[in-house]
Amino acid sequence: TAPWRGVVEEFRDRLPVTADTPVVTLLEGNTPLVPAGELSARTGCDVYLKVEGANPTGSFKDRGMTVAMSVAIGEGAKAVICASTGNTSASAAAYAARAGVRSAVLVPQGKIATGKLAQAVIHGATILQVTDGGFDECLVLARELSERFPVALVNSVNPVRLQGQKTAAFEVVAALGDAPDVHCLPVGNAGNVSAYWIGYTEDHAAGNATRRPRMWGFQAAGAAPLVSGQPVPNPETIATAIRIGNPASWALAVAARDESDGVVEAVTDQQILAAQRLLADREGVFVEPASAAGVAGLLARTERGEVDPGQRIVCTVTGHGLKDPQWAMPEGVQPVAVPVDAGAAAAALGLA
Ligand code: F0G
Repeated sequence: TAPWRGVVEEFRDRLPVTADTPVVTLLEGNTPLVPAGELSARTGCDVYLKVEGANPTGSFKDRGMTVAMSVAIGEGAKAVICASTGNTSASAAAYAARAGVRSAVLVPQGKIATGKLAQAVIHGATILQVTDGGFDECLVLARELSERFPVALVNSVNPVRLQGQKTAAFEVVAALGDAPDVHCLPVGNAGNVSAYWIGYTEDHAAGNATRRPRMWGFQAAGAAPLVSGQPVPNPETIATAIRIGNPASWALAVAARDESDGVVEAVTDQQILAAQRLLADREGVFVEPASAAGVAGLLARTERGEVDPGQRIVCTVTGHGLKDPQWAMPEGVQPVAVPVDAGAAAAALGLA
């Protein structure tokens, strides 16, 4: 088979690009759909993980960023800007570096994971840490700057981003031969759940799938505006990627939930961390905390008897665990010290 050419070339006829659009790509997409044995056993379903941490910058954001950056460069942009809880800024910085344009990112001070900040730094982004606001305030600022100054906005309020992100649904349908019964994922700014719904809807209309899945979205309990039905002024969660109180794609996400006969529910930080640990410990997949929210929600629903067995379920795990390693070892690690001595090592391992 031919080598993978990245999201724009692989899905060109279903994306808002023309023959003249310069393609800015890191060959993102084509991520693994991994059967999840432990989750399947616990739910009585066939559960798969769509491992989006396998994208070039370690999150699903690259799917949208390749399209947004290509379109922006095609329109003559010399600089791009975004607000971010970390992953969008990492992706924007990398794709801007690739395109040879400047990037600026607005992030909430002290509230983005170290690995993500490092990515923005090494890719040469100009980083502004907003001192008196969270992601929501950063987004207001980014929008205003893009309206008043010559800098292209690459947040998901730019509809081109969602067009790129919808391609993950196409890949799921292609891998399974149809849409799943249920699709679980974390919800923050609510772009991704909306993008998957666009993708599934298009694939269904095109005859590639016989059905559309129920969309089950999960927010962190301290940042769950779609659950309460009103913006959360001071969102709080250890899952900093989804620490968002007023999602930009609110209406689209509610439509995806309702049209799919789905749900948006809250999971606690404790449930998120337990799901992160289970994914690492039992499935061999290390994801950042926010990424585990979809799995946490699936397990919570299973415990409440709200998951019918025998279904095919896909959980998107959105970002790589290495971006935010602190939660993997909250108390630090204490490896056993041994000399270069097989006897001592064997004793320490309980082998002798
Ligand atoms: N998971 C991860 C790892 C994320 O980084 C995000 C969003 C989400 C889930 C939620 O997706 O916003 O489309 O509902 N991160 C954005 C950012 C906000 O700035 O990186 P969503």
